[in-house]
Amino acid sequence: MNYSGLLNTYSRYPVEFSAGSGAYLYDDTGKEYVDFLCGIAVTGFGHNHPEIKNAVLKQVDSFWHVSNLFTSTPQQNLAKKLARHSGLDSVFFCNSGTEAVEAAIKFARKWGKGKYEIISALGGFHGRTYGSLSATGNYKFAEGFEPLVPGFKHVDYGNISALEAAITADTAAVIVETIQGEGGVITPPQNYIKDLRALCSANNVLLIIDEVQTGIGRTGKFFSYQHEEIIPDIVTVAKGIANGIPLGATICSKEVAEVIKPGSHGSTFGGNPIAIAAANKVVDLLDEEQLNNITELGKTLMDGLYGLDIPQIKNIRGRGLMIGIEFAAGISSKQIASKLLEKGFLVGTSGDNVLRILPPFIITKTEIMKFLLAFRRVISDISGKQF
Ligand SMILES: Cc1ncc(COP(=O)(O)O)c(C=O)c1O
Repeated sequence: MNYSGLLNTYSRYPVEFSAGSGAYLYDDTGKEYVDFLCGIAVTGFGHNHPEIKNAVLKQVDSFWHVSNLFTSTPQQNLAKKLARHSGLDSVFFCNSGTEAVEAAIKFARKWGKGKYEIISALGGFHGRTYGSLSATGNYKFAEGFEPLVPGFKHVDYGNISALEAAITADTAAVIVETIQGEGGVITPPQNYIKDLRALCSANNVLLIIDEVQTGIGRTGKFFSYQHEEIIPDIVTVAKGIANGIPLGATICSKEVAEVIKPGSHGSTFGGNPIAIAAANKVVDLLDEEQLNNITELGKTLMDGLYGLDIPQIKNIRGRGLMIGIEFAAGISSKQIASKLLEKGFLVGTSGDNVLRILPPFIITKTEIMKFLLAFRRVISDISGKQF
């Protein structure tokens, strides 16, 4: 292994980017890539977006940090916008998805006044710090790091009866994703999220929806639970909220907010002015027209993938611009991703046989068509058959 100075936490592609613009990235040789990954569902408005960039530069020209000990109108404005979009009340700002989930778990336990159990779904992913890692329903992420935090239970995703059976008098909250992103873009059965809402309400248990990957427009609604017409008690967001500047948020109902007092929780950097400036712009850009555009582009991509009629594809699933392609056993998604990279397209993978496609909201239909052609060529090359 070549010494890079970095801890070996990622297996990295041998490509180094030196510039980005819109849906495009450029490596140090000047080669152009179309970004169908968005830094794993982060840069929804692409690279170097002029309005987001100007908002950030304006803040950079002023001050960079003051501390949450002081009032900030831009922070309050963003909180009010997130509360309005979510149907909830108040926001805690942090720096990442895992921190947003940590805060949600802590707030749920505080609200629970002794109720401590948190139920989550097998196959789900909620982050890498101890609370969110304990909620994550995939043992491979925890291996070697035990013991985890006590009080966490996992049940089958999409199985409402299993969840009902797991709830006890000690249950404070259920946390789920509406689509399991890291788990392979797994969509639950119809009405699962709605039934979950009803089940939690009936048992006085909080429903936490982890929107870190699905939120901020990715599925064609501001929050993905809005497809199900429900309102959770707590919503976690991060990734796309500031288009690449680190920011996370935990959005809470009034009932949850009421138990949180000064000193209950905190973060030195959370809600940093530069990230807040970017996020205020992202939220303003994400209007009804933009959300409809995401739905329309997602449909073009999904229809295009179905239209390729590739027998090695076992399943295509997802919503909006969050799409997973599952291949038959023996076809390596990593190999496909590497070949697409050679052809100038960035995509993601999940496990051995799922390809994850997370293009920016500013992608065009022409770029989608180019991607579909490259994808077909890659599958033909790998399988030795023409499609
Ligand atoms: C649903 C979900 N929750 C939480 C996280 C953790 O976010 P972060 O990597 O910003 O800590 C992720 C990251 O992939 C995620 O997909």
